[in-house]
Amino acid sequence: MGGVVIVNNPILETDLSYITSEAADEFRALAGRRVLLTGGAGFLGYYFVQSIRYFNLTADNPVRLTVLDNYIRGVPEWLAALKSDSNIAIVRHDATQPFDDGIDYDYIAHFASIASPTFYRQYPIETIDANVWGLRHLLDRFRAMCTDGKNAGLLFMSSSEIYGDPDAQNIPTSEEYRGLVSCTGPRACYDESKRFGETLCVNFARAYNVPVSIARPFNNYGPGLRLDDRRVIPDFASRILKNENIELLSDGSPTRTFCYVADAIVGYFKILVRGRAGEAYNIGVETPEISMLDLARNMASIAKEMCGYQGDVLFQVSDDPDYLKDNPNRRCPVIEKARRELGYEPSISIDEGLRRTLAWYLHQEGFNIG
Ligand SMILES: NC(=O)c1ccc[n+]([C@@H]2O[C@H](COP(=O)([O-])OP(=O)(O)OC[C@H]3O[C@@H](n4cnc5c(N)ncnc54)[C@H](O)[C@@H]3O)[C@@H](O)[C@H]2O)c1
Repeated sequence: MGGVVIVNNPILETDLSYITSEAADEFRALAGRRVLLTGGAGFLGYYFVQSIRYFNLTADNPVRLTVLDNYIRGVPEWLAALKSDSNIAIVRHDATQPFDDGIDYDYIAHFASIASPTFYRQYPIETIDANVWGLRHLLDRFRAMCTDGKNAGLLFMSSSEIYGDPDAQNIPTSEEYRGLVSCTGPRACYDESKRFGETLCVNFARAYNVPVSIARPFNNYGPGLRLDDRRVIPDFASRILKNENIELLSDGSPTRTFCYVADAIVGYFKILVRGRAGEAYNIGVETPEISMLDLARNMASIAKEMCGYQGDVLFQVSDDPDYLKDNPNRRCPVIEKARRELGYEPSISIDEGLRRTLAWYLHQEGFNIG
């Protein structure tokens, strides 16, 4: 496979090779099958689509993929470049409306939903609709397509935000924890619609015996996250690329575990193909649980080494008074269930992931990093 240039970015090619080898069994199961991905123009969609494309390069029996998105932020260049790929169909559609293209899909991955806290708070109704109505339409369609004995799966992308702000004895957090969540706060449009989405999935699995499963991602990051997305790592990276100081919009103490996108995507393919019906799986890494201050310092020091970055880390207050409201203090998963049932074993360290992410941004922005 080495030397096959499918994307003009070496970091992505390394990651795609890793993903298709870590999820080799799952790709074998998807070969020749029809897959529908909603929200495919987003951050995680980028890796999902490119992984399938990478697999297809050498597959006798390629995966046939439909990428659906409302392209509210335009059709990304990388996706437009795939228009000539006969195994990939690109469809503009609002996932909150029923979608019927007459294709009998085997697998459906529902990624469509705004994921950035800044933007879902600006578009709360749209966020709820994608996670509730959008999911409901897909579940109805999936149920009709699930004939006896067919290998099939529907994956709903929920979130670790369904746990809200867990008390200390529930950190690290396992799937059994029920959550401590506000149903009316500024983040509730996201947290509660993901929770209700899970309820829909579990009940479809139980009532109709269909293979629907759920991923609960814990802070994924990496190439493909737009610099203007307002999530923390691209936010810091955009400062670094301009050689400006990194501004922390909290006191720097909240902690997170960050999972590099290549490890996370392996987890999503595993759930899609092998997840147990009606079950939810934490997908993330267990260590390190790192404070926002340490993350900023870490990125600054890696960037100093990679491209001579000279900025500092400063404290600032957000213009948005709700910015920190209901923001969880700590977030850290137990991933034993995915490990045991799916063979999920993330291995890319935070330093390596940050290095790859910064290298990707630098490459995209045309920096020469030698
Ligand atoms: N990235 C993470 O760390 C993370 C964490 C937890 C959960 N998730 C979930 O994973 C999924 C993908 O996340 P992401 O980071 O790629 O998000 P993203 O915001 O980068 O991409 C989401 C995509 O969905 C599309 N979309 C939104 N509403 C739509 C609609 N009504 N119809 C059609 N398309 C629509 C957007 O245009 C966008 O291309 C989301 O459901 C998100 O909630 C992600």
